[in-house]
Amino acid sequence: MNIKTLLVIIGLLTASTAQASGGNESFSATNPKWKAECGSCHIAYPARLLPASSWKAMMGGLDKHFGTDASMDTATAAEILAFLEKNASRRKVETSTKPQLRITETRWFQSEHDEVPARLWKDPRVKTGANCAACHTKAENGDFNEHNIRLPR
Ligand code: HEC
Ligand code: HEC
Repeated sequence: MNIKTLLVIIGLLTASTAQASGGNESFSATNPKWKAECGSCHIAYPARLLPASSWKAMMGGLDKHFGTDASMDTATAAEILAFLEKNASRRKVETSTKPQLRITETRWFQSEHDEVPARLWKDPRVKTGANCAACHTKAENGDFNEHNIRLPR
């Protein structure tokens, strides 16, 4: 089966889940400070992709952000945290476990992407699952619509 057929099938399978989660417009929440500060090293990941507890933990440790220093003044950080919490995922989280900081490690992400061929994650043009824009050509605008996916070939 070629990749196009595969994508059509995945599309059909996930159409119902996309609807259940509120559709693509749910990724459009934006805030100028978030866009500027959190979009300077990678795309500004949509608030909707992690629960409030994760954003809170992340914003509390920006000086040690995945091996880099992403700290900012406290007023800006507070505004960004409020924005992220307001628009966070409402999916249930296990309160007993540590908040998840990586979108790419959530069950949601892994099941949404389980049809992506393993070799693609290792492709030098992708490098890491966190590099959303390698496949989602409009990720920059919070658009993850399946029609705007181009897999590196
Ligand atoms: C100084 C650069 C820098 C800034 C500024 C920055 N980040 Fe990051 N961020 C990184 C790096 C580096 C990684 C790890 C990327 C990887 O593993 O491929 C990362 C990873 C992440 C991830 C995990 C992605 C995944 O699922 O694997 C999230 C979520 C994230 N950042 C959110 C934020 C938020 C929110 C802000 C703004 C408050 C922010 N980042 C600002 C550098 C930055
Ligand atoms: C290696 C390519 C690749 C990377 C990198 C990637 N994705 Fe995807 N993504 C896909 C494919 C393929 C699908 C399945 C398309 C479908 O459902 O038809 C998908 C589906 C999705 C969907 C569901 C779209 C829909 O309309 O149902 C979302 C949301 C999404 N990805 C977000 C992300 C985010 C956020 C990142 C980065 C943290 C990311 N993706 C990284 C390839 C990728």
